[in-house]
Amino acid sequence: MAFNHKNLIDITEYSAEDIMTILQTAQSFKAVNERRVKKVPTLKGYTVVNMFNEPSTRTKSSFELAEKRLSCDTMAFGGTSTSTVKGESLVDTVKTLCSYKIDCIVVRDKHAGAPYKIAQTSGLPVIDAGDGKHQHPTQALLDLYSIWEAKGTLEGLHVGIVGDINHSRVCGSLIPALKIMGATVTVIAPNTLLPARPDILGADYVTANLDEALPELDVVYMLRIQMERIEDAPFPSLREYSLLYGLNKDREKLMRPDTIICHPGPINRGVELDSYMADHSTRSKILDQVYAGILTRMAVLYLLLGGNDGANS
Ligand code: CP
Repeated sequence: MAFNHKNLIDITEYSAEDIMTILQTAQSFKAVNERRVKKVPTLKGYTVVNMFNEPSTRTKSSFELAEKRLSCDTMAFGGTSTSTVKGESLVDTVKTLCSYKIDCIVVRDKHAGAPYKIAQTSGLPVIDAGDGKHQHPTQALLDLYSIWEAKGTLEGLHVGIVGDINHSRVCGSLIPALKIMGATVTVIAPNTLLPARPDILGADYVTANLDEALPELDVVYMLRIQMERIEDAPFPSLREYSLLYGLNKDREKLMRPDTIICHPGPINRGVELDSYMADHSTRSKILDQVYAGILTRMAVLYLLLGGNDGANS
């Protein structure tokens, strides 16, 4: 197995073979997560810093669990409890952390490009846990894993990505990752939630009409409206947005019987998904995606840090 990456910052640096190696490694970690003692000694002695400078539930908790299940020492760091509030720069902060002889930095930051700066400053493996509107590569990997597990393949699938394309770092990684793996991608959004040049994302098709697109799709990937990143109202009201782009029981009738629904979380309930679609529809893979977060993050840590004791040892 050739896996020659130091960082995971830009998913477009990974080939289909690299991504499949991650998915297969993640699958091998499933056995560890389903036994009573959910721990292997693979990365014993490694220290990983989780630098979260923006809020997170899923990414932060699953990285921490993934590290613990691989026997890493972990340190949670970031936000308003650090000396950055006194004016310390990102570079000085990283140099300080590196003095502790750490081995890897996982970073979430509101500034696109922060992971590159940290990689350059530290010389250590860096994993992007979401940077500004740029990318969220481990989210793309867990999404691919969940779709691969549900459908048995990625190649040839037609995936529709619905909603706030413009503000979504999930799209920044997921669209290129799906294209690398041979899927067809349609983005579905009002013009006001598209970037000025939708073609730069690499999607095959762009449409504003969800109802026309739904019967064509194998996977419907719903995005959250990113209220915290929106300055000017892109639609008259959330109610109107939900009427045109929300998934509910009525709209489900337009889907094929085997079409699945994904969402990166957190959900704006009643906006992009109603509670029936989120919780009760057998199409929903949302909690499978959450679980895949541990598996794929274990795989990424294992492959980047060069653990060689075997996934199930
Ligand atoms: N999908 C995702 O990144 O969720 P969190 O913001 O809770 O980590």
